[in-house]
Amino acid sequence: MGMSGKLMVGNWKMNGSLAANTSLLSELLSGMGGVNCLAAVCVPATHLAQAQSLLAGSALALGAQDVSAHESGAYTGEVSAAMLRDFAVRYVIVGHSERRQFHGETDTVVAHKAQRALAAGITPIVCVGESLAEHEAGQTEAVVKRQLAAVIHTNGHCISEIVVAYEPVWAIGTGLTATPEQAQAVHAVLRAQLQAATAHSQRVPILYGGSMNAGNVAGLLAQPDVDGGLIGGASLKAPDFLSMLKAASR
Ligand code: PGA
Repeated sequence: MGMSGKLMVGNWKMNGSLAANTSLLSELLSGMGGVNCLAAVCVPATHLAQAQSLLAGSALALGAQDVSAHESGAYTGEVSAAMLRDFAVRYVIVGHSERRQFHGETDTVVAHKAQRALAAGITPIVCVGESLAEHEAGQTEAVVKRQLAAVIHTNGHCISEIVVAYEPVWAIGTGLTATPEQAQAVHAVLRAQLQAATAHSQRVPILYGGSMNAGNVAGLLAQPDVDGGLIGGASLKAPDFLSMLKAASR
């Protein structure tokens, strides 16, 4: 069975406990037969050690949800890219809309977080996406291009090493998914922007996120520029996440 080439990433957000993680991860690992897409779970920083040990040697990669824009030093509460690297973290989400919205992360901060991750050999999953107000004002393209441009500006020479996730803020946790056509239109804009910035013709994966679930995953993944998914709520339920991994494996 060949690799499907899709990348499916669970974003647990601030959920889980040692006990709950043990059952979720063991249920996931026992259901991975037939899964041939790339798959990862982004867990809270406090649970990296547990997840690293439970996932060791498995087909499920380990990810984190945030990383400091600073290298080390007097930044109380922050977790550095080198610290994540110590737990064999492969991916880190940067610039999630919840970080931008509730923790004041600017485009510049997000770009520096991506840079720290890349310097530590961790793939940043750079999130972009417009708010409901921006969506309704017809500003979607301008907003996502501005957000991605900051990351390209700071990381130009290694931009082909990143992953991008398009997550319309109005679709996150709301049950309102972008239609496959809406997602494809934005992904095509991001694709063109990335192609203009990459020297080689490497394909930067562009994931869709925002109320992706077992029912809508196939239609979204069928779009030519949708290379996978970033999945919040549905990634906390093993049967749902597994069925999405299987849909991405065809
Ligand atoms: P959701 O979250 O799947 O629960 O909408 C996606 C995300 O925020 O990454």
